[in-house]
Amino acid sequence: MICQKIKIQNFRNVASCEVEFSPHVNLLYGDNAQGKTNLLEAVYYTALGKSFRPAKEAELIRHDCDAATVENTFSDSIREQTLSVQTFGGKAKRIVKHNGVKIDKLSDMMGIFRVVLFCPEHLSLIQGGPDLRRSYMNVALSQLKPAYLRSLQRYNHLIKERNALLKTAVDQRAVFEATEPMWSEQLAKEAAYLTLKRYEYIKAINEQVRIIFSAMMGKYEGGDEVPEISYLPTLGMEWMKREGFETSLEGLTEEMALERYRHLLSAHHDREIATGGTLYGIHRDDVKITLNGRPARLYASQGQQRSLALAMKLAEGWVSAKECDGEMPVFLFDDVLSELDVHRREYLVSEMTGRQVIMTACDPDAADFGMSQVRHIKVERGTYEIK
Ligand SMILES: Nc1ncnc2c1ncn2[C@@H]1O[C@H](COP(=O)(O)OP(=O)(O)OP(=O)(O)O)[C@@H](O)[C@H]1O
Ligand SMILES: [Mg+2]
Repeated sequence: MICQKIKIQNFRNVASCEVEFSPHVNLLYGDNAQGKTNLLEAVYYTALGKSFRPAKEAELIRHDCDAATVENTFSDSIREQTLSVQTFGGKAKRIVKHNGVKIDKLSDMMGIFRVVLFCPEHLSLIQGGPDLRRSYMNVALSQLKPAYLRSLQRYNHLIKERNALLKTAVDQRAVFEATEPMWSEQLAKEAAYLTLKRYEYIKAINEQVRIIFSAMMGKYEGGDEVPEISYLPTLGMEWMKREGFETSLEGLTEEMALERYRHLLSAHHDREIATGGTLYGIHRDDVKITLNGRPARLYASQGQQRSLALAMKLAEGWVSAKECDGEMPVFLFDDVLSELDVHRREYLVSEMTGRQVIMTACDPDAADFGMSQVRHIKVERGTYEIK
């Protein structure tokens, strides 16, 4: 997949621009606060219909303007296409068009244009909280399977409803017991589907991460350590042991997960009412990351953790391509080059050959470590000039 051109109007600090990208490496460089990340954000916005920064939609619109528009012209191996998003400041007030035809639901735009974003926050994928790792799965899977996003949206809605019901149960237990089964049954169905999709995805990621990590770390002390990325649902350790899933979820079916969630959602009401929230389900999942069997969070060196995070991000691209007839997504690297040492950069260069990368850095020389065919784009106060 190649992003050929981005056309923007009143998005962030960009009044109006049209930027043509090279199908190879594109380096957006310039001082702080000029609009480098804003352009990456605009590209990402046409892939996922939302920002990767914790922004309210209205904040994407240039100050004192009514609407922001981003139009992405891109191509895959078959044809040239366009995706445009115009926002007036809210999900309900957004117009998405694919090749000029309106798309009504967010889930219907997923996967049309795919990206892999790697930003400084992702360096905490190993050390940070589980919400980062859940988001890693959600962003990748939503782009691969629109049905995943639709299920996740239903799940999030159901969780809100069930949690609200749990809060009223303190005073109205009978009403709660009468209403809860209906919500829990729907919730268990979505949870079972999402659990299986996450499990399959992390299994594919694990295979790729092992290959990438070993190639990347080959030259280092500790480079022969073997990573293992595994999916950690809230099905309960004892149950997993009993069912033979102690070391691997191989063989888990959606029906088994459904039965288990049905049980978990019905058996812990007292505790759930006391805490005021649903205790079991995919909103509490995690991804376990180990090196030679030990938690990477506790034992891996800083460098190994960075390599693992980078490997997980690259693996996201590889798995995405595998699932989509070999068509690679576009890689967006925001400010991460300066965080990587020379060996990891060199590895990145070798891996990015033949793929499209759009990256940001302050320094115009940031890509001068072996990257060829680099298009330098100078960013200044929301304007973009090819050098
Ligand atoms: N809605 C908006 N309207 C106008 N300007 C905005 C809006 N949102 C953000 N900005 C401005 O955009 C600029 C930040 O742009 P961006 O995050 O792309 O910077 P950057 O070039 O990536 O900088 P850094 O090197 O620090 O990461 C800031 O000056 C900010 O005030
Ligand atoms: Mg930035």
